Amino acid sequence: MRQDHLISASHLSREDIEAVLDRAADIDDDPAAFRQRHAGKVLGLCFFEPSTRTRMSFDSAMKRLGGQTVDMGPVESSSVKKGETLADTVRVVEGYADALVLRHPSEGAATMASEFVDVPLVNAGDGAGQHPSQTLLDLYTIRENAGLDDLTIGIMGDLKYGRTVHSLAEALTNFDASQHFISPESLRLPRNVRYDLHASGAQVREHTELDEVLPELDVLYVTRIQRERFPDENEYRKVAGQYQIDSETLEAAADDLTIMHPLPRVDEISPDIDDTDHATYFEQAHNGIPVRMALLDILLSQDR
Ligand code: NCD
Repeated sequence: MRQDHLISASHLSREDIEAVLDRAADIDDDPAAFRQRHAGKVLGLCFFEPSTRTRMSFDSAMKRLGGQTVDMGPVESSSVKKGETLADTVRVVEGYADALVLRHPSEGAATMASEFVDVPLVNAGDGAGQHPSQTLLDLYTIRENAGLDDLTIGIMGDLKYGRTVHSLAEALTNFDASQHFISPESLRLPRNVRYDLHASGAQVREHTELDEVLPELDVLYVTRIQRERFPDENEYRKVAGQYQIDSETLEAAADDLTIMHPLPRVDEISPDIDDTDHATYFEQAHNGIPVRMALLDILLSQDR
């Protein structure tokens, strides 16, 4: 990887992505070979926002590499409650760890924090900004199930506030992928992401209805409406419950359609899809382990 930190998927080249995905595949094939790889190293977990999958899978990944973790714990019981700045928090935790994972409600927080630390810092979600390690596990899942080139993907739901969408869309510009974005008008991709996609020559189309495009798709990536990011609860209510899929919706889909979701889901994917061959979201979540092991392995092995 060219850079020390992982802040935005837009910084990742195809070579960077393939290096992580290939390492993750090696780990999947022979996890025992990596069991002591980072013995004695410590990963710092700083989560200023709720997390289950991302926090636990980074924790588990580090331990499966032989390392250990230190966790800031809930914001309510940390010094943040006493008014400590983010810059001070990361500068302190840097002294306790060989790499940091940061999740924060403010867009741009990871970029700012990375300027204060010398150890590698992974952005595990900055508000409605980016979530690049999620993207790496998404790409790994797509590569395993549908292939990354000659791919037709639909990305549906909250494209405005969904940071996993922003990262995934930008990373996919490295591949021969045609991207269809399906959302209500009010939750379209933000202008800056649309600009980046356009500037990189990505094949992109926007829709308000899934059925316009469903039969063509190899992958459908469904997302949750990000309730916590709406400035106004009434605005949330206007769009809540739209863009749900169930087994009936899928009658128009290709037999080998892969359905993904970064999770947690609310009501976007009916449980009657879970037992079909389309459902790939739990496998996707499990891929967080080899992919985050691969990412940590690469970041912790770079000569610094
Ligand atoms: C996502 C997130 O935090 O952005 N969750 C995750 O990390 N898998 C998606 C979401 O919260 O909807």
